Amino acid sequence: MRERKDHRQTTAIVYAYVASCAVWLLLGSLYGVILAWKLVYPDALTIELLSYGRIRPVHTASLLLGFLSLGLTGLAYLVVNRTAERPIWSPALAFAGLALWNGALIAGLVTLSLGTTRGPIEYREWITPVAVVFAVGALINGLNILLTLIRRPVPELYISNWFILAGFACLPVLYLVAYLPAFATGSANIIIQGYYMHVVLGLWFTPLILGITYWALPILLDKPIYSYGLGVLAFWGNLVFYSLIGAHHFIFAPTPWWLQSTAILVGLGMMVPVWASTGNFLLTMRGSWRYIRHEPAGWFLLSGALMYGLASTQGTLQAFRPINLLVHFTNYTVGHAHFAAYGFVSFLLFGAVYALVPRLTRRSCPKALAAIHFWLALVGLALYVSAMTIAGVRQGLGWTSGAAFIDSVTAIAPWYLLRAIGGSLMALSHVVFAFNLWCMRPHAIRAAAVAAQRAPA
Ligand code: HEM
Ligand code: HEM
Repeated sequence: MRERKDHRQTTAIVYAYVASCAVWLLLGSLYGVILAWKLVYPDALTIELLSYGRIRPVHTASLLLGFLSLGLTGLAYLVVNRTAERPIWSPALAFAGLALWNGALIAGLVTLSLGTTRGPIEYREWITPVAVVFAVGALINGLNILLTLIRRPVPELYISNWFILAGFACLPVLYLVAYLPAFATGSANIIIQGYYMHVVLGLWFTPLILGITYWALPILLDKPIYSYGLGVLAFWGNLVFYSLIGAHHFIFAPTPWWLQSTAILVGLGMMVPVWASTGNFLLTMRGSWRYIRHEPAGWFLLSGALMYGLASTQGTLQAFRPINLLVHFTNYTVGHAHFAAYGFVSFLLFGAVYALVPRLTRRSCPKALAAIHFWLALVGLALYVSAMTIAGVRQGLGWTSGAAFIDSVTAIAPWYLLRAIGGSLMALSHVVFAFNLWCMRPHAIRAAAVAAQRAPA
């Protein structure tokens, strides 16, 4: 009886988080598509609410803090519940965390749309009260997960939980440093900006998605992870190297040269944890290719693991001064950002949702629709990233050759069009994902919907 109650509660929490994540994914994608087409047709949609400067931060906040953070936290609750073999410490706190995050995201959407921001500080555009509400939600979720794990009856702490705890431990530190007024001006602000940008990616999204994958993959393939030791190496490598990497965002900026050099070198060090995890995932899949071939969840996990290795290697290379000189300020970085945040984190997240949610709700979506989601997302991403990579190199070559700036603008117009087409395919794939998630809804929601349909008008 208690077990059934625990299962019901966990299902409700996980599904509520993942459903919210899908809503923010749809909204963020819509804004992304508008952004991309606006760069093709700059005179379209000239109303203030949809001006480029306003909707760009709405796009990044909805997708990074809404889609990714909510989806990752929902699945983290599931991993913690299953591996700790005990109910979530407080379901009420989990729902409070969700309400705070959704509240902050809605407030962020409204304030940014009205043009109210903290200033031109990328990814930290939300005004402070909105950021504080988000931070309180993060603290509540972190505490809930920590207390669930502390009270676990099993002695061992599965590797996934190391990653998840690290993510929730790093986020408050990151927030505190990033929002302290002491570092808000001059070159300190540049250093903190770089620190914030990369630590939020490397010590929030990355540990959470790695932790989830270290559990989702063995569950999908019904076998243990290839090497626990490689997982531990990846964990410590991520923790040590990622925290020192931020200054690579501002190579040649007026920040100390030694700081930039350290960040570049540490980027090289990142290859150890990155390929430790990528290799671990691929070696776990070895021998299961027949199964993976027929399983869209496996396609997402395989592509996500590969893109983790590839996008991170691309990042390491682009930090080197000769390459950075060419591609900094160009669309090449936008290509890298989507290759990593979408190809790595989002693909693994989609794979984990398809692998875990049906096992939880005992309801799956048609395999053909999951396959359509996968191919639209993959083809869309390939068009997006290749268009931005070519456009970025073309811009860099034009600028360093001393040609007139306008030449680079006209030269990349076709690549902007290709990006808009690729991005639209990605957005379409998200509509399919949302429908698939609806098919996987827990029984209670479905029963309520059927009852509502049958009720006399
Ligand atoms: C070893 C791992 C990685 C390294 C060394 C690396 C390196 C870099 C560098 C050097 C830049 C700045 C380029 C420039 O402006 O000149 C950058 C930008 C960026 N990276 Fe990575 N990257 C790595 C992994 C990742 C991952 C895993 C993600 C996503 C989860 C990611 C997302 C981004 C984003 C979003 C930006 C754009 C930031 C902005 O708005 O300026 N990177 N990366
Ligand atoms: C659904 C299709 C998408 C489209 C059409 C799209 C389009 C865009 C566009 C046009 C920009 C602005 C680039 C600029 O100002 O030059 C942008 C920025 C960004 N988007 Fe997306 N996006 C999409 C999906 C996503 C997803 C799913 C994520 C995260 C998981 C994401 C994360 C980002 C980030 C981090 C940036 C800032 C990159 C930088 O400054 O280097 N996008 N996106």
